[in-house]
Amino acid sequence: MNGQTQTASLHEPVPQLDLAAQYAAIGGEIRAAIERVLASQQFVLGREGLALEAELAALCGVAHGVGVASGTDALILALRACGVQAGDEVIVPPFTFVATGSAVSAVGAKPVFADIAPRTFNLDPGELERRVTPRTRAIIVVHLYGLAADMDPILAFARARKLPVIEDAAQAIGASYKGRPVGSLGDVACLSFYPTKNLGAYGDAGMAVTNSEPMAVRMRTLRNHGQTGKYVSSEPGLNSRLDEIQAAILRVKLGHLAEWQRARQERAANYTKLLAGVSGVRTPAIPANCEHVFHQYTIRAARRDALQQYLAERKIGSTVYYPVPLHLQPIYASLRHKAGDFPESERAAREALSLPMYPELRSEQMATVVAAIRAGLSV
Ligand SMILES: Cc1ncc(COP(=O)(O)O)c(C=O)c1O
Repeated sequence: MNGQTQTASLHEPVPQLDLAAQYAAIGGEIRAAIERVLASQQFVLGREGLALEAELAALCGVAHGVGVASGTDALILALRACGVQAGDEVIVPPFTFVATGSAVSAVGAKPVFADIAPRTFNLDPGELERRVTPRTRAIIVVHLYGLAADMDPILAFARARKLPVIEDAAQAIGASYKGRPVGSLGDVACLSFYPTKNLGAYGDAGMAVTNSEPMAVRMRTLRNHGQTGKYVSSEPGLNSRLDEIQAAILRVKLGHLAEWQRARQERAANYTKLLAGVSGVRTPAIPANCEHVFHQYTIRAARRDALQQYLAERKIGSTVYYPVPLHLQPIYASLRHKAGDFPESERAAREALSLPMYPELRSEQMATVVAAIRAGLSV
């Protein structure tokens, strides 16, 4: 692949994500919802937000939803609701978006990394025993790319030590594990509605969901300046409220989520079929009893960077989520990790490549992507 001259592509470009296609389909509904909020002139902590909290708690199979300004804030408030404080340790996989770790740092705690399982890209339950210490106060699991982590052994480990489990479900809304929805698996779960997510707002937004009433009450207080009464604050909080316009947009999109999820799953199955037998590529695993919602369709490719460049030259979008694992990020230089400390996370960072994936992706576009992968790998 290296050193090839660029060949003109005979096909239309295939973006990695096409939000404009989605907006073309639902723009009318979205504008009506925004108009409804404008007519109400209620912009924060109103009817739309309350309704969305109830709808998403129901989707996740729990009692409470607490709308906040981002998925990162949901993680910060969840950590605080779990009682995590400065000096505590929180176990986190290093192969994730930086927010999973930086939320731990934001509450003054230390992320302690635990490597991933190679087949799923998710936290390896067998790593926990090696990483737990007397200072461990919580475990964050990430359901990366839309696939639930292997929760039963993680929960058994945590329950035996009375450690709370926080689900970073930013990428996995709608997914399930052994028939139980993501969001109901741990003690509290965090959703992100960043625009590119399966349920994406038109700006930043997020939510924490939980079955625990005390945790929900605490997070509601913390998202609103720690106020327990009007202009009475009991502890330092944030201004992290989900606004009404985003909530109204998200409610429209929530009505389409199941159909979009099916479309993603069909496209994932099609990719897997088309890529069967292509040597040099490993397609995503779907463990038994898991419903994967394919926020990303992520392959492993041995010569990943060259393949990505080959695709880019043919105007086919792809993204590396994530090229640098957390333990090797500058933000965690003070933890003095080195290459080799978490080999599976490092290998995933070298091999993972997310292909174009969105509900409107057409089969001929997928055929184009796969033909280019075959060609690129055989050069
Ligand atoms: C795994 C993961 N965790 C946390 C976040 C943070 O969410 P947000 O961007 O809404 O703050 C994201 C998304 O950006 C994510 O993908």
